[in-house]
Amino acid sequence: MREIVHVPLGTRAYDVVIGPGLLAEAGAMIAPLLPRPRVVVVTETRVAAAHLDGLRAGLASEGIAMEALHLPPGEATKGWPHLQEVVEWLLAQKVERNDVVIALGGGVIGDLVGFAAAILRRGVRYVQVPTTLLAQVDSSVGGKTAINSGHGKNLVGAFHQPALVLADTAVLDTLSLRDFRAGYGEVMKYGLLGDAAFFEWLETNAPAMAAGDMELRVAAVKRSVEMKADIVTRDETEQGDRALLNLGHTFCHALEAATGYSDRLLHGEGVAIGCGLAFALSARLGLCPQEDPSRVFAHLQAMGMKSTLSDIPGDLAGPEALLEMMGQDKKVVAGTLNFVLARRIGEAFVTSDVPPEAVIEVLTGK
Ligand code: GLY
Repeated sequence: MREIVHVPLGTRAYDVVIGPGLLAEAGAMIAPLLPRPRVVVVTETRVAAAHLDGLRAGLASEGIAMEALHLPPGEATKGWPHLQEVVEWLLAQKVERNDVVIALGGGVIGDLVGFAAAILRRGVRYVQVPTTLLAQVDSSVGGKTAINSGHGKNLVGAFHQPALVLADTAVLDTLSLRDFRAGYGEVMKYGLLGDAAFFEWLETNAPAMAAGDMELRVAAVKRSVEMKADIVTRDETEQGDRALLNLGHTFCHALEAATGYSDRLLHGEGVAIGCGLAFALSARLGLCPQEDPSRVFAHLQAMGMKSTLSDIPGDLAGPEALLEMMGQDKKVVAGTLNFVLARRIGEAFVTSDVPPEAVIEVLTGK
């Protein structure tokens, strides 16, 4: 069971390899990139405990030596202090211009290590080995790298495409159900934004996929990556179409800010709720059929996921405050709040033409 999605970006083109058991084959897949049989790996402690030995063995089978840096898990790692730590460690490891750095972990590690690779010696190659569903279908593909600043998330970064992505779908077995479902929010997003047949396929197959069916898992990751690759190829630096990938994100970022970027709401959970709200807003504005938001909410509920604001534990800011938080989002362009809305399931578009009262009404659940 092996799928390859090519990301055709000219001199920055690369493959995303998807399937179970890829860690064991990492050596054979990475060897063609290496000028010498040695790599450096940056990971975090929880992922290291579960998967670093597997990666080491996979590399050793091709005679590739490995040194690893273990960072603390969690979003707080994605900031200036650990960026400095990673860069200084890579220099201490004598990583040269043609060497390859490996990012083993979820979105935090992928974004941080990708950014470190972008600035080290003015850019070295890196391989993404994403270990969460969210990272496999979204953050490891497309070359967005970043750290957070005190001013907000992902505000300091660069576009730097990986040289290879190895999405081992067997490592997802070690995810908690909550983390798996959160990543699923991003999978569902692809169907909603651009492929109604994929959303329909998910309505039928996603429960079995979440229960562990590997063929379905590979198929869902592959279709998600294909869609992301297609959009990124059209618009690598988000001048237009790439913004479609932000379906659900304007709402999500306000909800993440309102919950203090804490465990109360994972990013993928916010995306899922945000997708439901984007469809509710589209229907309220008469842009999409009234039954579409109901279908999105029904699917989230069938997957046992958070689907509405009332599913978020604890008190939430009121609708006006949430709207204000959307205005702080970095996707605000020239002071205008952009939304990704939909004409129907599978057909999203970007607009700034949204009356604030309609947003308030949707947030109030009217
Ligand atoms: N995660 C959205 C993007 O890569 O553009």
